[in-house]
Amino acid sequence: MIIGGPASQLLAGRVAAILGETLAFCDYRRFPDGESYTQVITPLEDEVAIIQSTPTDQDLVYLLQLLDIYRDRKVSLVIPYFGYARQDKVFKPGEPMTARAVATALNPFLKNGRIYLVNIHSPSILSHFECEAKNLDATPLLAEGIGSLGLEDPAIVSPDKGAVAMAKTAAERLGVDYDYLQKTRLSGTEVSMAPKEIDVKGRDVVIIDDMIATGGTMATAISLLRQQGARRVYLAAVHAVLTGSAVLKLYRSGVETVLATDTLDKGISTVSVAPLIAEALRPK
Ligand code: R5P
Repeated sequence: MIIGGPASQLLAGRVAAILGETLAFCDYRRFPDGESYTQVITPLEDEVAIIQSTPTDQDLVYLLQLLDIYRDRKVSLVIPYFGYARQDKVFKPGEPMTARAVATALNPFLKNGRIYLVNIHSPSILSHFECEAKNLDATPLLAEGIGSLGLEDPAIVSPDKGAVAMAKTAAERLGVDYDYLQKTRLSGTEVSMAPKEIDVKGRDVVIIDDMIATGGTMATAISLLRQQGARRVYLAAVHAVLTGSAVLKLYRSGVETVLATDTLDKGISTVSVAPLIAEALRPK
């Protein structure tokens, strides 16, 4: 049985449809004081897959409530977008490693289980789980989406070296060039960013990354690539976090189209990771 948390209802429905499994009916509400309330209305089963992204603290509480309901049973937990993944280190003295704190809170519920994440920002987070933990890669699905855009002389670039593996995977699938944007500090206040190897002049360029949050990274990259003569600039990202005016920023910078997956359910989430998750959950 598939249990869809409130942040992942559409994706859970898609996974259940692919696997031909029952999608449980659940009630998610808030008490007048803001506390979360969860009830699984479909009779409980001994083996379930819970799918719930955690973009907000409240989504994390809903997840803990679902895990508590199934605490003595066998759970496969899928967190398509794992919030706090960028807090994967103690950057300054006196800070927590929040990604580890979240994993530590989930561990007691996963004694008979396993966990799947999708393009986790830092794979080191997997080591904080005591059960089997896997990172699923949605890049091949994004590559399919990129392939249907009808690009001319395309190149795939990542906005930094950290995401160059994604650019490589997508480019190899499509048989096109890839690169990453290298930052060069020109002065105390000025930074330039350009592809390390390739020339983008007159080409369609797709910038690929794990997530778009404020849109600042992508907006800067779009403007710079356009200044360097890119014909059209597209974006592809796994997680459409999209805080505040992120979408406005991207379109004001001159992006042609933004592709994202449904690890978070947003208007631009047109590439579904349901086949990837269904494959991971399918009994072997
Ligand atoms: C950074 O390491 C990440 O891969 C993303 O590039 C970054 O988190 C995007 O954030 P924003 O959209 O706020 O620039």
